[in-house]
Amino acid sequence: MAIISVALAGRAYDVRIQRSLLDNLAQECGPMLRKKRVPIVTDVNVAAHWRDRVTLALTKAGFEPVWHVVSPGEGAKSWSGLEALTDWMLAEGVERGDHVIALGGGVVGDLTGFACAVLKRGCGFIQIPTTLLAQVDSSVGGKTAINTGAGKNLIGAFHQPALVLADLDVIDTLPTREMRAGYAEVIKYGILGDADFFAWLEQNGEAVVARDDVALEHAVATSVATKARIVAEDERETTGARALLNLGHTFGHALEAETGFSNQLLHGEAVALGMVLAARYSARRGELSASDAQRVADAITTAGLPSDVRQLNLSCDGQKMANHMLHDKKMDAGTLPFILLRGIGEAYLANDIELSDIAAFLDEQIT
Ligand code: GLY
Repeated sequence: MAIISVALAGRAYDVRIQRSLLDNLAQECGPMLRKKRVPIVTDVNVAAHWRDRVTLALTKAGFEPVWHVVSPGEGAKSWSGLEALTDWMLAEGVERGDHVIALGGGVVGDLTGFACAVLKRGCGFIQIPTTLLAQVDSSVGGKTAINTGAGKNLIGAFHQPALVLADLDVIDTLPTREMRAGYAEVIKYGILGDADFFAWLEQNGEAVVARDDVALEHAVATSVATKARIVAEDERETTGARALLNLGHTFGHALEAETGFSNQLLHGEAVALGMVLAARYSARRGELSASDAQRVADAITTAGLPSDVRQLNLSCDGQKMANHMLHDKKMDAGTLPFILLRGIGEAYLANDIELSDIAAFLDEQIT
């Protein structure tokens, strides 16, 4: 088992990565489960795959799981979804010292984490991420949120889990498209800060996407270790270190907005395209070699992810894309920070980018 500690003072927690963790859930959670009834939040799809296994693991250890099952998809991360969940937690008598289990992907983790951040001013929670994307990114680091009419993740809180259990068994049931979308966040760690890991992924990326046991565990553990280090250094994204994790996300967010946050483009696919755009824009500024920008695009293509915005057949121009960026939650006093590259493994935060230049660049990329 790989065990990675997120070393936050006074709130350090483990991310444990291994197969079959679900079967020993009670032992893995240990004293965090203080009461016989164990509150678990999940969605309909995850419940279909894993509810019986989790129920068996807990009941054989003398616990009684109680379930709050939400609809799959971003719609669950709403004010009404939060109200329903917190009402249920209150009815279940959840207290500050209790831990609610979030069993699911990013939506379940974000919603449950936020509910736990505000319930009685904060109760505990345990993340059991069931997608690759959630295992390597959203379950670690304490970003929790719901969506509103004004945009995604605009209402939220930093609230760290007490434990993350990344059971690699759950990855087996992921649809290939979701697997690839999660892999985009894996490559991200190489591109932003670890050239050796990127080179390893160039050789082994296809094995990771094909869920080869050894390759998958190495990829998840390396990704989580990088995320844990960055979160411990800059928990609340104030020093610039954590902002590097947004590599590809500003371009990607604009692409998601332009495609209506629809199934046409999954978040990880948008991040993949966004990383290629960030690399190509860095090359256009003369900061990254054209050959390294091409390596980024090639690694993404090899994983079966989109690497060329023309594949989306967008009918907008660069200015419209740049306009989407004006609504990005990272906007700060009129400037939008971009994560750019000086080399593979050398991402940096650029605060001097004019959106008009981004619009001109995107015009070149779209047409
Ligand atoms: N997904 C970006 C972060 O956790 O900071």
